Amino acid sequence: MAMSTSDSAIPVEEQAKLVESSKRLAAYQAVKDYLVPTYTRIGIGSGSTVVYVVEAIAALGPGVTSGMTFYPTGAQSEELIEAAGLTLQAINKLPTGQQLDVAFDGADEVDDDLNLIKGGGACLWQEKIVATAAKHFVCVADFRKLSPRLGTSWKKGIPIEVLPMAAPRVLDELKRMGSLNPRVRPGLPGKAGAIVTDNGMWIIDAPFAPLHLPKDSASGVQAGNEDNGVWQVDALADRLIKIPGVAEIGLFYGKNGLEVTAGAQKPVVAYF
Ligand code: 5RP
Repeated sequence: MAMSTSDSAIPVEEQAKLVESSKRLAAYQAVKDYLVPTYTRIGIGSGSTVVYVVEAIAALGPGVTSGMTFYPTGAQSEELIEAAGLTLQAINKLPTGQQLDVAFDGADEVDDDLNLIKGGGACLWQEKIVATAAKHFVCVADFRKLSPRLGTSWKKGIPIEVLPMAAPRVLDELKRMGSLNPRVRPGLPGKAGAIVTDNGMWIIDAPFAPLHLPKDSASGVQAGNEDNGVWQVDALADRLIKIPGVAEIGLFYGKNGLEVTAGAQKPVVAYF
């Protein structure tokens, strides 16, 4: 489906319907393709697309799901799992040395190499813990999320989970690194102050110029680094995670066997 949210020929309500049907289609496709009936441990991410993932899993019925345990990435996915009548278990109950069979989650933006920006829903820390605990990570994304370079369509910035007392110092460092107007994310409508994550932290959203692919990208793209103010995904991730007070960052990339399926498009495989 070749369209974007800026497709002005399509009325707003119609666009919203297309987005919802793309999310739903991606979710049902992902569950069909990647939830193997013999799997027993499944990670469930956060966000509006994951709602359809849980719906698709529940639709398989107890004959398939009764032997499965579902590991959430925060309060929202915990509620989703419970409301669907699926078995819930906290990720800290997964014994050491064991992995989840698969984890499903959404994304805010996905680049040509299937590196991701995540954390629009402020759940990125637990999401990364669950994603990296899984043998396979399936990212379920509607058509709006694909872009050639991270930071092209998701303009809000890279979500960064920080210790509240460190926020001013982290903001200073982000500005030194070339972030354009980084800011502490405000609370949800009607709630004063900063948004507080499920882990008692704050989120800073740090916009950067669109990122280049990692140095070792299969695409062979080599241009761009911190010297000219345009970062490569891996170089930026390495620097961000080292800032004192940063708990986790919403850049997901690397070599953990990430699978991304976007709406009606053919599922594709990335590595993070
Ligand atoms: C939450 C996330 C979500 O997966 C991401 O924001 C996508 O959400 P949605 O499916 O609602 O578009 O990273 O922290």
